Amino acid sequence: MSLREYLKEQWPLLYIYRKIYYAPKDIPAALGFIFCGTKSPTTFGARLALVLNFYKISYCVDCPHTEHEMIAISRQILDLGAADGAVPGAIVEAGSFHGGSTTKLSLVAKLCGRPLEVFDSFAGMPENTEAHGKSIYGREHHFPKGSHAVSFEEVKNNVARYGDASRAHFHKGFFSDTMPGFREAVAAACVNVDLVQSTRDCFHYLYPLLPPGGIIISQDAHFPWIIELFNDSIFWEKEIGIKKPPMPGLGTLKFVTVRKQNDPSL
Ligand SMILES: C[S@@+](CC[C@H](N)C(=O)[O-])C[C@H]1O[C@@H](n2cnc3c(N)ncnc32)[C@H](O)[C@@H]1O
Repeated sequence: MSLREYLKEQWPLLYIYRKIYYAPKDIPAALGFIFCGTKSPTTFGARLALVLNFYKISYCVDCPHTEHEMIAISRQILDLGAADGAVPGAIVEAGSFHGGSTTKLSLVAKLCGRPLEVFDSFAGMPENTEAHGKSIYGREHHFPKGSHAVSFEEVKNNVARYGDASRAHFHKGFFSDTMPGFREAVAAACVNVDLVQSTRDCFHYLYPLLPPGGIIISQDAHFPWIIELFNDSIFWEKEIGIKKPPMPGLGTLKFVTVRKQNDPSL
């Protein structure tokens, strides 16, 4: 039995292993967040409590992300300013899995006074024939139909138990069915959906809902198939109706942020 396999059976040990492994990135991100202000008014105590809650949620809910990733996302959202300011609108999450990120985002939503709109099939990936493989970090990933399936009840319970359920509204079903009817302004969308088709759907339906300054953060930019999509000028021009936007870090980072410009044609 490998060390990894052994640790998998010993959850507290695996948790500690992960926190030590990622500490060189998690701790500077946490300290930077706690000690620096955000454009949405937050106190030192509230930022400290948020980070501590993130660690607790990661212990209680199976999370496929790291603390520094969720802190970076939270920072971008809280830097959009107050909910009634220049960038109004909800926080959207596309892709919730066990609800670890959903629970964390519900606390961010509470901090900045925005609603959290959560989209997931709660039945895993849709039917697809996409060819997957290694991420830019060299790990194999495959997403057949039904993979990552977690029930709606489990996600809802996790948010109620560890987050702020009053912030979260759920849209159950495949994005191509649930997103066309969603018409609210979106200040920030966190898209973590693994598939090219799912990413296409999210950008197609959510980008028009961004006010100027609003953002979509893709958490899948470590997958070559998503990088290829983002590098495709025809996707941006024909499906989204804009010129290919600046995406700092595309090809080298897991997260890529697209920000809507003031000129609607950009
Ligand atoms: C990687 S998981 C999300 C992880 C989660 N954000 C976290 O950090 O804990 C991807 C999720 O996207 C959902 N998903 C992917 N494509 C979808 C689609 N077309 N419609 C609805 N849900 C989809 C899957 O059901 C799965 O829960």
